[in-house]
Amino acid sequence: MKKKYKNIYSFNTKILKKTVKTLKRGEILGLPTETVYGLGGNAYLRKAILKIFKLKKRPPENPLIIHYYNKKYLKNDVIINENFNKLYKKFCPGPITFILKKNKNSKIISLANANQNTVAIRFPSQKIIRTILKNLDFPLAMPSANISSRLSPISAFDVFDEFKKKISIINGGKSRIGIESTVIDLTNKPRILRPGIIGADAIKKLLKINLSKKKTQIKSPGLLKKHYSPGIPVIIGRKPKSLKHAYIIFGKSNDKRKNYFNLSKKANLKEAAANLYMTMRKIKKKGYEKIFVIKFPNYGPGVALNDRILKASK
Ligand code: TXA
Ligand code: MG
Repeated sequence: MKKKYKNIYSFNTKILKKTVKTLKRGEILGLPTETVYGLGGNAYLRKAILKIFKLKKRPPENPLIIHYYNKKYLKNDVIINENFNKLYKKFCPGPITFILKKNKNSKIISLANANQNTVAIRFPSQKIIRTILKNLDFPLAMPSANISSRLSPISAFDVFDEFKKKISIINGGKSRIGIESTVIDLTNKPRILRPGIIGADAIKKLLKINLSKKKTQIKSPGLLKKHYSPGIPVIIGRKPKSLKHAYIIFGKSNDKRKNYFNLSKKANLKEAAANLYMTMRKIKKKGYEKIFVIKFPNYGPGVALNDRILKASK
């Protein structure tokens, strides 16, 4: 490891032991998942939750996702239902988050779920985070490891860029999926609050129902106006006219202009999703003043891609 990154650790048994102890005490760590890196803390400890909100500069009304190893680890934290069971069986562990009713005896600190009567839960599939969760006797509250409203990190070095030496970070390589999990509300008629790699069609097919299209009520992911911002203006559906502006494209193209960045030459939407945040960060670091980006085909992962660039453009 380069000297510059003294607080980025490779994972091994010794680090696992240290990680468990640190989290138990209520400290916060930068941790890998298959979607994006998270800021993990003990969901049963008030001091840990307070630290997460403070580090992220997150408004207290925006609830956190609670991460578990598997269904057995849920104990009595939430009330599960039939739709949950079906989705869990098919997609978990994996990039999907469920909103469920909170149980009265739940040990989750209410601040973590913004004092609501619901909780968001997720079972990440990335190997390192799964090993950690398996060894804990509490779940992890874990928002994406970025300052509120900015781009989510997909590598340990991205997390370092956000928080420098304020936290220790476990290096799990590049996040495979590259955008945040699909969030689905299961407290009523199922409704997608945040699109992700697991799309509405796959969910509809499995549950054999139509999803609710009702606009989300307060305290849902879509409501924060600015989100996923790379720190420079993002313009959708137009070409740049200046070399100081970058252009994010997608699909077959022989264009070799230096300010053109292709997310997937194979026109693969999953690959494009895995490259989106990384490319936006790279463009910002190279000193471009603006990002122009094409509109993605609006199906499958394209729905999630369009959602992220739209919010980044606000
Ligand atoms: O992929 C992911 O989900 C990543 C990794 C680290 O697991 N986590 C993540 O967390 O994206 P965060 O905090 O950046 O986004 C969670 C979203 C927020 O937009 C929040 O509003 C929503 O989930 N959320 C959390 N609890 C909720 C609840 N009880 N009701 C409605 N929305 C909720
Ligand atoms: Mg986030």
